[in-house]
Amino acid sequence: MAVKIVAGNWKMNLNRGEAQALVSEITGMLSDEVTHPVKVILFPANIYIGAIVQLTSSDHRIAIGAQNCSNKESGAFTGEVSAAMLKSIGCHYVLIGHSERRAYFGETNTLLSEKIDLAIKHLLHPVYCIGELLEDRNNKKHFDVIQNQLTEGIFHLDATAFEKCIIAYEPVWAIGTGLTASAEQAQEMHAYIRQLIEKKYGGIIAENTTILYGGSCNDQNAKELFGLKDVDGGLIGGASLKSRSFVNIIKSLP
Ligand code: PGA
Repeated sequence: MAVKIVAGNWKMNLNRGEAQALVSEITGMLSDEVTHPVKVILFPANIYIGAIVQLTSSDHRIAIGAQNCSNKESGAFTGEVSAAMLKSIGCHYVLIGHSERRAYFGETNTLLSEKIDLAIKHLLHPVYCIGELLEDRNNKKHFDVIQNQLTEGIFHLDATAFEKCIIAYEPVWAIGTGLTASAEQAQEMHAYIRQLIEKKYGGIIAENTTILYGGSCNDQNAKELFGLKDVDGGLIGGASLKSRSFVNIIKSLP
């Protein structure tokens, strides 16, 4: 069975005080209200990671990740942050290929595959984000786009490395727009992704791979989405910036 996860992608939001306040509210609510084992990953901006690792160290249910890493090992790459650096400050996860990175920073599947290799090498778990544009869906190309992103970005891994990864399906048209994939659309695509993983790595790995849904997931729709057979939790943007809504989403995990 795949591990169920709720992850919060803070993007380029919050100053230091706000970030610390949000973390302490989340940890407080979790300890007061959530007694069952849940897995939560927070993706703050890089500069807060060290502090937030410390602030969350007493709650083993919370792990910290970065929103991106370099495709280079080290050296003269001004402004970049390497997978090894992230690992050294207590990061355990890294988002790779978020649609904003693909769209605004021109990140290609090939470049992303290099980032995934370095993340794995430095013992970070990649959370590989995939998703189609509205135009792809309207042209009935959404399955092809997803297959391509998986094939070119992550299916070069051997089975042992792939098992360290999480997939996040985030239809681009649903990110930050208030539009969510319907339950049918989400389940259909998640099942398709699992089927591709099965074809490549076999049934056991497919069954054990966590596939998160992302795109305007909130405390109103999380229960329905998380209840779907092939949806193993969510990658939450906007709604992860408010402690009450984020903890409510965590509580929606089955
Ligand atoms: P959203 O973002 O929840 O604000 O749509 C999701 C994401 O970008 O990961």
